[in-house]
Amino acid sequence: MVKVHSLTDTYTLSNGTQIPCIGFGTWQSADGDECYNAVIAALRAGYRHIDTATAYGNEASVGRAIHDFLAETELPRKQLFITTKLWNEDHGYENTQAAIEKSLESLKLDYIDLYLIHWPNPLKFRDHWEESNAGSWKAMEESYNAGKLKALGVSNFCERHLDALYKTARIKPMVNQIKLCPGQPQFELASFSRKNGMIVEGYSPLGTGAIFANEDMKRLAQKYNRSIAQVCIRWSVQQGYLPLPKSVTPERIAENARVFDFEITEDDCSTIAQLKDSGIKLARNPDEAPF
Ligand SMILES: NC(=O)c1ccc[n+]([C@@H]2O[C@H](COP(=O)([O-])OP(=O)(O)OC[C@H]3O[C@@H](n4cnc5c(N)ncnc54)[C@H](OP(=O)(O)O)[C@@H]3O)[C@@H](O)[C@H]2O)c1
Repeated sequence: MVKVHSLTDTYTLSNGTQIPCIGFGTWQSADGDECYNAVIAALRAGYRHIDTATAYGNEASVGRAIHDFLAETELPRKQLFITTKLWNEDHGYENTQAAIEKSLESLKLDYIDLYLIHWPNPLKFRDHWEESNAGSWKAMEESYNAGKLKALGVSNFCERHLDALYKTARIKPMVNQIKLCPGQPQFELASFSRKNGMIVEGYSPLGTGAIFANEDMKRLAQKYNRSIAQVCIRWSVQQGYLPLPKSVTPERIAENARVFDFEITEDDCSTIAQLKDSGIKLARNPDEAPF
């Protein structure tokens, strides 16, 4: 497993693309000043990888923050890694072609570093999800070959969804983004994803904020003299996952990036993986998601 030591350290995707080892989450960061200020704060704090989605409704604010940051620092675009995702309404070949163009336009980018299918089995396509995913993937492969998408992946895909995709995919997915947090380590799915050449990204590393009331995590945070958030993110990094913490609060954004100066013991990593009553909602079954 590759060891990472700073926010700018990267993992290598199966096509050779470098992906920074922690991504900055933006779900529920409101479009406009809230999201713009959060992304600017993250970039200034050293994050180089931003995770958004069409469904978050904030691609325009993310794009504005990226451009202002690049202008302010004179860094080249290639120093940043931007992910967005295909929303559930837009599955199928032609819809996906249009959705990719729309995201490029909203973000005001010439290319997207990583494009993911957000969910494998949307309600709208539930009776023919395999076919609609195959169509989406074909459109994504074409945009990849045209240089508009630099890497392709999926999110919330289980083994059965990946097996179905492999029947027609010419390019294999390079990332699976799934819920990974204390008490929900998803070792089997992570292992299957890795065996198939994917980097595993961990969303909701803080349980969408639900982890902070947990007594075991309070105890561990005290033991390591770090915050609960830092312990969660460090745990994810030590599993070789790529965590995507979200915050709109500058102090927390900076705090969540300071996870490279301590090590959690194997025993404590197991305690975190097996955490009971974490207070965090269970990952949704993608075949029953009501959207
Ligand atoms: N692919 C998918 O289906 C999917 C699903 C869910 C999430 N994601 C991605 O993963 C990202 C993270 O997941 P998430 O948004 O569910 O949440 P999360 O990162 O698990 O938790 C965010 C919550 O924790 C709070 N927080 C953050 N840092 C903190 C700290 N140091 N101390 C105390 N509170 C802190 C935030 O508050 P403030 O913001 O108020 O500071 C917010 O309420 C998303 O933003 C998105 O990019 C993807």
